[in-house]
Amino acid sequence: MARIGSFFVLLSLACFFTLCICEDESNYGGDRGNLFPGFYRSSCPRAEEIVRSVVAQAIARETRMAASLMRLHFHDCFVQGCDGSLLLDSSGSIVTEKNSNPNSNSARGFDVVDQIKSALENECPNVVSCADALTLAARDSSVLTGGPGWMVPLGRRDSTSASLSGSNNNIPAPNNTFNTILTRFTSQGLDLTDLVALSGSHTIGFSRCTSFRQRLYNQSGNGSPDSTLEQSYAANLRQRCPRSGGDQILSELDINSAGRFDNSYFQNLIENMGLLSSDQVLFSSNEQSMELVKKYADDQEEFFEQFAESMIKMGNISPLTGSNGEIRKNCRKINS
Ligand code: HEM
Ligand SMILES: *[C@@H]1O[C@H](CO)[C@@H](O)[C@H](O)[C@H]1NC(C)=O
Ligand SMILES: *[C@@H]1O[C@H](CO)[C@@H](O)[C@H](O)[C@H]1NC(C)=O
Repeated sequence: MARIGSFFVLLSLACFFTLCICEDESNYGGDRGNLFPGFYRSSCPRAEEIVRSVVAQAIARETRMAASLMRLHFHDCFVQGCDGSLLLDSSGSIVTEKNSNPNSNSARGFDVVDQIKSALENECPNVVSCADALTLAARDSSVLTGGPGWMVPLGRRDSTSASLSGSNNNIPAPNNTFNTILTRFTSQGLDLTDLVALSGSHTIGFSRCTSFRQRLYNQSGNGSPDSTLEQSYAANLRQRCPRSGGDQILSELDINSAGRFDNSYFQNLIENMGLLSSDQVLFSSNEQSMELVKKYADDQEEFFEQFAESMIKMGNISPLTGSNGEIRKNCRKINS
């Protein structure tokens, strides 16, 4: 009797897990390769907990780290897909992406990614990819600063190559036109709505003077500041960022709450108080984009819902899966 009883317990457990996995595979996103949230359920059940705990400690030490990690995920995904290519240091034939124009003296948080990865390696060696670790860290960074959460499809593998030119050419620059920025998003399979929602991540974090100085002094080469920049805000920024020098001085991307993930970024744009030109053009250059800015400024829930959806979509850009790529042991270098 006991034998038969435990047989049925085992059978129903097996059914339960099969159903759960099926659910995971059918519920999330139409177009997400072979990624699904339960990917590490049996191989590393505590993976998400471990990532969250290291990210939480890092953010407790320095709030800005949430922003820095979220940006690393974006800069990873726009170059060869979300494959951890950004995390590689130069070595052998690999030329690191860390020295590209968008990343140099700017991308940060690599030490925290290393801490996450070594905690994962301690728990389940050779199982969780650096690309997945960074994707989870970006989601946790949203949640831990007051933003939305979402189930992260997992199963990405790590690249054995990097692309410096991809980093320079694919990631939009802060002085790009609206159309150039939109084209760089559509090249990745993201649309105008994704562009506006994902730009909302500039509700946290900082920018260096060098990324917006042009707007303060000489936006179009005629010696005048950007006319879409609110005047007293501009004067304030000129105090912090001299015409030359002070390239690395930081300003809040969201003047209201740079440590809090909320919708005030969009409210700033309506007041002509976006910090980067690439922020302000979302309101000043395109009707459809302007409508979305107004919608998210008015309704934080709408923004949060779309942000979560667009982050999943960005996280699903061209992943390496199956036997492609590898599970890097150290995020900074390929295995052999
Ligand atoms: C739409 C085109 C985008 C442009 C032109 C852009 C450009 C920039 C620039 C110039 C900075 C300041 C860097 C510095 O001066 O050191 C920055 C910071 C940041 N970006 Fe973007 N970005 C864009 C989209 C995104 C997206 C899609 C995300 C994430 C989903 C993102 C997340 C961030 C975060 C969180 C920071 C602050 C980082 C920190 O404080 O360490 N950005 N971005
Ligand atoms: C954008 O900024 C870069 C780097 O500062 C500069 O070389 C380029 O001329 C600027 N482009 C425009 C259109 O102003
Ligand atoms: C503004 O930029 C243009 C072209 O980049 C340059 O020729 C001009 O000297 C600059 N003017 C000032 C006032 O810096």
